[in-house]
Amino acid sequence: MQLLKGKKLLYIITLCGAMIVAQTYAQKEHKEEEPAPQNLKVLPKNTTGDEIHKIMRGYALSLGVRCGFCHERHETGDKPHMDFASDAKPEKDIARGMMHMVDSINHMLDDIGNNKLEHITCVSCHNGNTKPTVSVDSLIKKDHQ
Ligand code: HEC
Ligand code: HEC
Repeated sequence: MQLLKGKKLLYIITLCGAMIVAQTYAQKEHKEEEPAPQNLKVLPKNTTGDEIHKIMRGYALSLGVRCGFCHERHETGDKPHMDFASDAKPEKDIARGMMHMVDSINHMLDDIGNNKLEHITCVSCHNGNTKPTVSVDSLIKKDHQ
């Protein structure tokens, strides 16, 4: 009985150890999945793959789109895949222009507010849409108006 308990404990410890090793391995593998970007023209060239993905998720959420709205998808070959470095889609270049625009607006905001005003981002205008279509009439009326 005592021996069995000991064996069981050893089994559990070994299992836990294996799980920890597997998890660390998975995390390491995930890191390797985000390759360094090859074709940056606006963002700093040394932006890492992980940083890019965070920024890109922000763009997609801000406009309410999937990655394929700006990025080319190759349907040829064994399995279809996204070609993130490709500049084939015009939306990608528009987005680059928007990045410059956001940058200059934020510089102007710094000038206007002596570096105290909040910066804008894509979502400030896009609000989850590809076209910022909010009009004054569509705003929720507040009591004091
Ligand atoms: C609104 C347009 C837009 C959306 C949506 C978008 N991207 Fe991008 N993406 C860009 C632009 C613009 C660049 C290039 C930035 C530059 O030139 O500095 C880029 C660059 C990249 C790169 C670097 C490619 C290289 O090798 O140079 C990756 C990877 C990437 N995007 C992944 C994604 C993923 C993943 C998504 C979805 C979660 C996504 N993008 C959604 C516009 C977009
Ligand atoms: C100051 C407001 C403003 C900000 C901030 C802004 N945009 Fe835009 N964006 C617009 C307007 C206006 C249009 C044009 C909509 C139209 O008439 O088609 C547009 C259009 C676009 C389009 C083309 C959509 C299409 O239907 O083809 C893309 C892509 C885009 N913006 C990406 C971005 C990204 C990425 C950011 C953040 C880096 C950003 N925008 C920030 C105002 C803004």
